[in-house]
Amino acid sequence: MSDNVTPLLEARGITKAYGNVAALTGVNFHLNSGEIVGLVGDNGAGKSTLVKTLCGAHQPTDGQILIDGEEVTFSSPKESRERGIEVVYQDLALANELSVAENIFLGREMKRSGVMGLLGAMDRKAMYASAIETLHSLAIEIKSVETRCGLMSGGQRQAVAVARAIMWGSKVLLLDEPTAALAVVESDKIAGLVTGVKEKGVGVILVSHNLPQVHELCDRVVVLLRGRVVTELHRGEYNIDDMVSWITGTALHKK
Ligand SMILES: Nc1ncnc2c1ncn2[C@@H]1O[C@H](COP(=O)(O)OP(=O)(O)O)[C@@H](O)[C@H]1O
Ligand SMILES: [Mg+2]
Repeated sequence: MSDNVTPLLEARGITKAYGNVAALTGVNFHLNSGEIVGLVGDNGAGKSTLVKTLCGAHQPTDGQILIDGEEVTFSSPKESRERGIEVVYQDLALANELSVAENIFLGREMKRSGVMGLLGAMDRKAMYASAIETLHSLAIEIKSVETRCGLMSGGQRQAVAVARAIMWGSKVLLLDEPTAALAVVESDKIAGLVTGVKEKGVGVILVSHNLPQVHELCDRVVVLLRGRVVTELHRGEYNIDDMVSWITGTALHKK
C-alpha cells in the first residue's frame, strides 16, 4: 500500500473514558480499501470500545474520526451505516423476537442505497432469496429465514449477524469476535467470505482471539495494551509468538 492513499477510515488520537476508566488513550488507526486489519489485545484492552467508537455507538472523549479523509461525527451506528460501515458487535445485537430475514433487512426496506441498489423497487421475495443465498454461502444450516433468531443456537445467530454485515457493508466491516461461537468449519467459511469482500475493496477490521486465523487473514495487526496501540505487525514479518508477546506486554521489555 502506498503511503499517499487516503484511508477509508482513520482514527486520530482517540481517547475514550468511562468515568474514571481510560478505555482508550490517544489511539491512531487507519484502514485502507481492500485491507484486513487485525485488532488484538487481552480482555479489557479496549478493542470493543474502539469498534463502538468508530461506528458511532459510543462517542470518543477526544480525537477525530475520518472517512475518506473527511472528519465525521457519528451520533449513532445508523449514521455510520449510511456511509457503508457495518458492525458485528461482540454481544451480537440481533432482535430475538424477529425472524432471520427480518433481522437482515431491519430498517433497510425503504433505503435507496447499499449493495442491493433500489431496494424500494424490490419485492420481498427477492430480498428473502438474497438472504437465503448469503446464508447458504456461509454453509450454516438454518431451516428457514422465517425462523425466529431467539430460537437459534449461538453459532447460528453469529452467522446471521455476519451475513447481515457482509450483505450491507459496502465500505467497511467492523467484526468484533465474529467467530467466537463458531465451530471450525463455520469459522473457515467466514474467513473465506471476509477474503471475498476484501477483494471487492471493502476494508475489514477483525477483532479476534483466534491468533492463527488473525495471522493467516490479516494484512496488518494492531495490538492494543491497556487502551494504547503498542505495535503494528505486518504480514510476513512476525510469527504468532511475537504477537502473543505484544499482547501480554513482554515484548515491551525485550528491547
Ligand atoms: N460501558 C462501559 N462502561 C464502563 N466501562 C467500560 C464499558 N465498556 C468497557 N468498559 C471498560 O473499558 C475497558 C475496555 O473494555 P473493552 O473495550 O470491552 O475491551 P476488550 O474488548 O478489548 O476486551 C475495560 O476496562 C472495561 O471494563
Ligand atoms: Mg471486546
